[in-house]
Amino acid sequence: MSLTAVDLFAGLGGTTTGLSMAGCDVLLAANHWSFAVETHRLNHPKTEHRLQDLRQADFASWPDFDLGWASPSCQGHSQAAQPARKASGKVQRTHDLLRSTAWAVVDMAEVKRPRFLVIENVADVRRWTLYPIWKMALEALGYHLTENVLTASRWGVPQRRKRLFVVGSLTGPVTLQDPDVPEIAFGPCIDWTLGHWRPITSLQEGPRRRIARGRARGLGERFVIQNVTGHRGLALSEPIRTITGADQWAVVDGDRYRTLTERENLRAMSFPESYRLPEQRRRGDVILGLGNAVPPLVAKGIGQRLMAEA
Ligand SMILES: C[S@@+](CC[C@H](N)C(=O)[O-])C[C@H]1O[C@@H](n2cnc3c(N)ncnc32)[C@H](O)[C@@H]1O
Repeated sequence: MSLTAVDLFAGLGGTTTGLSMAGCDVLLAANHWSFAVETHRLNHPKTEHRLQDLRQADFASWPDFDLGWASPSCQGHSQAAQPARKASGKVQRTHDLLRSTAWAVVDMAEVKRPRFLVIENVADVRRWTLYPIWKMALEALGYHLTENVLTASRWGVPQRRKRLFVVGSLTGPVTLQDPDVPEIAFGPCIDWTLGHWRPITSLQEGPRRRIARGRARGLGERFVIQNVTGHRGLALSEPIRTITGADQWAVVDGDRYRTLTERENLRAMSFPESYRLPEQRRRGDVILGLGNAVPPLVAKGIGQRLMAEA
C-alpha cells in the first residue's frame, strides 16, 4: 500500500528522494536552512516546503500523513562532537540547542499521530542522557519502537556508513535488517577527467605522508584518501567510508590529487544522476548537506518495508 509521508529536517533531500523512489507520496518537507529548502524544492517541486524552525512548528496546520520521518540534527550527538571539557573540569554543553530538535519529533507525533515514525540519527544519540525519556515520550503516545543500526553499503550505496533508525509503529513493532547483498565499489563513481587536480608535490607534509603510506601498503596509483590524521588510503574496489560534512575525501591518481567533486559526493550517497544543485551555491554548503543526508537507497528500502507492513 502506498504511504503519504512528511520529511522533518529534510536537508538536501536524501530521505524524500528515497521515499519517492519507494512510491511514497511526500506531502511536506521542512527545514530552517534556506539553501537546503531551495535544493529540495528544485528536485521535489510537488512537495510542499516549509522554511522554518521545527522547534516552533504548528503541526496542527500540517496535512495528515501515514509516515513521519525525521532526521534531527546530529552534531550534538556524534562522537566527534562530545562536549568540550574546560581546563576547570567543567563540561561545556555547546550542543544542547541541537539536541532539542529531537523534541520536535515528539510534538509532531503528539499532534499528528501518524501510523509510522522513522527517526534517523547517529548511533551515539543513544548516549544522550535524555534518550530514554525521549523514547518513553513516544511510547506514551502509543508507539512501539525498535532501534535499528543499518549499514548503507548493504543497501546498494557505495559507502560504508552506519546510522541508527528508530522505527515507531502504532500497530506493533517493525524491525529492519540490512539486506544480504554484496557491497559495491566506490571506484566507478569517480570521473578522472574532471576536477581541479594539484601535483602531490604541492601538498603539505601531512597529506603527502598519508599518500606515501597508501602507496607503501600496495594501493597502487589510484585510490581514495581521507584528509584526517593517520588515514592510510582506501582501495577503489571498496565502498568509501562515511562521507562527512567536512569535505575530507580526496582521490589520488599517480602524481596528482584532488578532493571529490560535488557529483562524486552525490554518487557516494546514492543520489540519482538527475539530482540537481542550485546554480548559485557554495561548495561548503553542498558538502555539508550531503554529509548529513540519508542515502536515498536506504530511505527507499525502509519506505518499501513500511509499505509492505501497511
Ligand atoms: C541530518 S540533516 C537531515 C538530512 C536529510 N534527512 C537528508 O536526507 O538530506 C538535519 C537537517 O536539519 C536542519 N535543522 C537543524 N535544526 C533545525 C531546526 N531547528 N528546524 C529546522 N531544521 C533544522 C539542518 O539544517 C539539516 O539540514
